[in-house]
Amino acid sequence: MAADYGPGRTGRFSDELLNEIRAKSDIVAVIGEYVPLKKRGSNYLGLCPFHQEKTPSFTVTPDKQMFYCFGCQTGGNVLTFLMKREGLTFGEAVEHLAARAGVALPEKGWDRRRAGARGAAAAEADERRRSERDLLYRLLDFASRFYHQALLRSPEAEAARQYLRRRGVSPASVEAFRLGYSPKGWDALLKTLTAKRVDPAVLERAGLVLKGREGHYDRFRGRLMFTIADHRGRPIGFGARALEDSDEPKYLNSPETPLFSKSRVLYGLNLAAQAIRRAGRVLVVEGYMDAIACHEAGLDFTVAAMGTAFTAEQARLLRRHTERVVTAFDADSAGTLATLRGLEVLTAAGFNVKVAEMPEGKDPDECLRGAAGGPEAFRAAIEEAVPLPEYRFRLALRRYEPTTIEGRVAVVKEIVPVLAAIEGIVEREEYLRDFARRLPVPEESLLAELARYLRAASDARRAGVRDSIAKWRNNEEGLGRPGRRGRESLHRPVEAAQRTLLAYMVRAEETLHLVLAELLEASDWCSRIGLDRGDGGEREEEQERDQDEVAAASEDDFEPTEHEALALGWFLNPVHRRVARAVLDLARTGSVEAARLVDGLGPEDEEDVRTAVRALFEAENLPAEAEKAIRDCVGVLKEHRLLSRIDKLHRRISELERDGVPVEREYAELLRELIDLERHTDGGTGHWTVPGD
Ligand code: UTP
Ligand code: MN
Repeated sequence: MAADYGPGRTGRFSDELLNEIRAKSDIVAVIGEYVPLKKRGSNYLGLCPFHQEKTPSFTVTPDKQMFYCFGCQTGGNVLTFLMKREGLTFGEAVEHLAARAGVALPEKGWDRRRAGARGAAAAEADERRRSERDLLYRLLDFASRFYHQALLRSPEAEAARQYLRRRGVSPASVEAFRLGYSPKGWDALLKTLTAKRVDPAVLERAGLVLKGREGHYDRFRGRLMFTIADHRGRPIGFGARALEDSDEPKYLNSPETPLFSKSRVLYGLNLAAQAIRRAGRVLVVEGYMDAIACHEAGLDFTVAAMGTAFTAEQARLLRRHTERVVTAFDADSAGTLATLRGLEVLTAAGFNVKVAEMPEGKDPDECLRGAAGGPEAFRAAIEEAVPLPEYRFRLALRRYEPTTIEGRVAVVKEIVPVLAAIEGIVEREEYLRDFARRLPVPEESLLAELARYLRAASDARRAGVRDSIAKWRNNEEGLGRPGRRGRESLHRPVEAAQRTLLAYMVRAEETLHLVLAELLEASDWCSRIGLDRGDGGEREEEQERDQDEVAAASEDDFEPTEHEALALGWFLNPVHRRVARAVLDLARTGSVEAARLVDGLGPEDEEDVRTAVRALFEAENLPAEAEKAIRDCVGVLKEHRLLSRIDKLHRRISELERDGVPVEREYAELLRELIDLERHTDGGTGHWTVPGD
């Protein structure tokens, strides 16, 4: 196992150097080696190398030296392209480009002053310019080596070395995970680094020393040190285990620093990344020792969540490597509940999550070291991991006595929230049938309990959602002309948002593309949260009617692509939609200018379309931060679609209740849909959540 701590990566390349390399590398030429590109306006267009497509939506913009795909929303600069396309690290991508452009790179090496290649003066100038972050990276790397050397060589560390032997940690793991020992004295690390003229205040910000009344002192003393590295292998923090039971706490971790945030890192990911890709899945455990034991047992696709609930941030880190997660943790540990909650984060982020059942009271480390059937049994447990709902069901069956009425009631009570949490309707129904059969209880009873549970949860949020709709209706200043058919006030912010988006669409090609990309993402979001299903037909009807009107009025022969049609669907106001169509039409053949746009309108276009077009080009006060403004506007449209649907569901549910049909099929279905959707509002402030964010 080779350590991947990438010594000297950090700060190896100065900004000047990177700029030079980029300036000498034409993005069109580099990407052109992978993708045939055709010139189109000032851009280049081709088939996206990051997703399957038949019509090109991959654009390269030489002016900005950027690329972007409208189909899969992948984008970036020439370095990101190489990293994504070739699976390179940042450093490797730089090396690749530098070689291609004939730019010499400084040598690798932790200490810049030894680098020599560009001379001491230049190195020193770099030094001064280097940001604090880079300094912190180097300090953490130094500390990690310092502790590691202490573990290997210091006489004082004998107890730590014995401890590791006793726990069966091999020298290879000590090396690969860069384990260490922090000396007991109060200033071992402090003294070493201040002797190198490092300011103690900086060490404090690095989380390495603390400040007391009598000055600074080492944070970690007399502990076994686990180097926590980021996914690129750079040390960013430490976990420090007590060597004696009397020493509290058992684990002392680095505090939050500019580099380290416990919720944004997974222990061991730098070492496991390749194996995760190879295995097509990741094994997630709780503790440092668990991760190390798994790696030693050949399960090298393992990372540790470090005893915390999974966060969306951590999910994103894993997402680059796999969509399949297997977890193995001690079912009785204090962290289990938090971990289970964390797994829901993973499920919500679209991961396929399975849970391996561990023997009671044993963690993976203990299993692999011989407890409960040893490594064999542990490996079998990994292979037999079950989906989360199944796992929760088994836990409940074990905890209660399903042969008695009370026992079955208790299991039902525990399993209903689990069922409610399942996103997919089909999946939820399957589990419901299966659990009912196995308990056993009649399926209808379980369904009724579920409906009752959903109902209670809905009541709790209902007030919040109503509030947020009311706020919407009252809150908006007179931003635009009233909507065409009633419900004006609800339409007002939506109209304003549509107008702003149109203004960005005619402003520049870039902002046009930004608008289209955001709208596509919004359509995606709708289908992810199920907002595009079972709409009762009302919105579609409304739109179809508008569409007919527009088609009749314009008689253009513009055929929108599937993507364009999706984007157009967000313009609810028919006048706005007509203008958006015209803009897209023009954009295909060149620049979007006021004159061309007005010329393109037929005589049959109403006067209000012309007025709208003119107003667009006069929009002077567009926010400078286009990206944010566009996202906000699209956010308004998304929220409107979500809240309108929720409002409609509430109305229909109330109607059914008035007619007195409690568990009727339609009622239960509406409740389910409502719950699904309400999950995406925060039930109060009117903000929405986007799965996977
Ligand atoms: P455990 O208490 O299960 O420890 O905490 P462990 O991993 O089995 O460690 P050993 O086997 O006793 O050496 C699981 C994880 O929770 C975090 C650590 O990341 C630990 O590995 N933790 C635990 C802390 O951060 N602080 C603590 O005080 C305890
Ligand atoms: Mn343990």
